[in-house]
Amino acid sequence: MEPVRAPPLLSAVVDRNVEIELLPPGNGVDASIDDVWHVLSVVDEEFVPPLSARTDSLSMELRSDLTQPLTPESMFNGPVTYFESSRSEFTLIARVDGKVAGILGFLPDYHDPHLPGLSDLGPTTRVTTIAVLPNHRRSGVATALEAALADLPEPSLRPTVTVRTWSTNRKALGLFRKRGYGALLHLPDDRGPGISTVYLSRSA
Ligand SMILES: CC(C)(COP(=O)(O)OP(=O)(O)OC[C@H]1O[C@@H](n2cnc3c(N)ncnc32)[C@H](O)[C@@H]1OP(=O)(O)O)[C@@H](O)C(=O)NCCC(=O)NCCS
Repeated sequence: MEPVRAPPLLSAVVDRNVEIELLPPGNGVDASIDDVWHVLSVVDEEFVPPLSARTDSLSMELRSDLTQPLTPESMFNGPVTYFESSRSEFTLIARVDGKVAGILGFLPDYHDPHLPGLSDLGPTTRVTTIAVLPNHRRSGVATALEAALADLPEPSLRPTVTVRTWSTNRKALGLFRKRGYGALLHLPDDRGPGISTVYLSRSA
């Protein structure tokens, strides 16, 4: 598959104040490193499990040092490992009046060969992260970020977009339902007692 080659500013300017920019992996993300880090740090503990506990944005493996008591230093470090893994992904960044409001991380060509319901889909566009700063929520920023996937240059967007969240994440489930996603797979108690991992998909 051809790598995504896009002008950095997508056409998805949803109104006068919101701009969506495509940050390619590596240097692209690094150019907005403070903004991406800021969003991940602020939302860290809203995720289940927290981003700072994870080894990367795709696996559900936890950092091995979690078996050790949290020290002030490890608590201060925040989602460093998750962030490092995000740098190798594409990121859409939303700015409101020029200031960061939210991000969407994605892999344009992701195939999960092991999970029932996903393996036979072939490569999909996988949304790995979507997060909006609390003071910008409920004003359509996440909706705009997700919709901006449609503005990626061909053939970046696969016929199917997939995403993963957890069953108690009412906000994200509402967002994805609104954007036309349907449930593909539930992994019961995957994130703790009574908390499933939920995979969803929509046609691009
Ligand atoms: C989930 C999240 C990205 C939504 O961002 P947002 O910009 O506020 O979302 P939008 O304004 O585009 O809202 C889209 C839809 O999501 C749902 N939604 C968003 N916030 C909600 C809330 N507090 N309660 C219920 N539904 C909510 C609604 O269906 C909403 O549509 P509506 O406003 O027409 O009712 C944001 O709450 C967030 O960053 N949460 C923490 C991180 C997270 O959980 N990310 C998803 C992990 S997979």
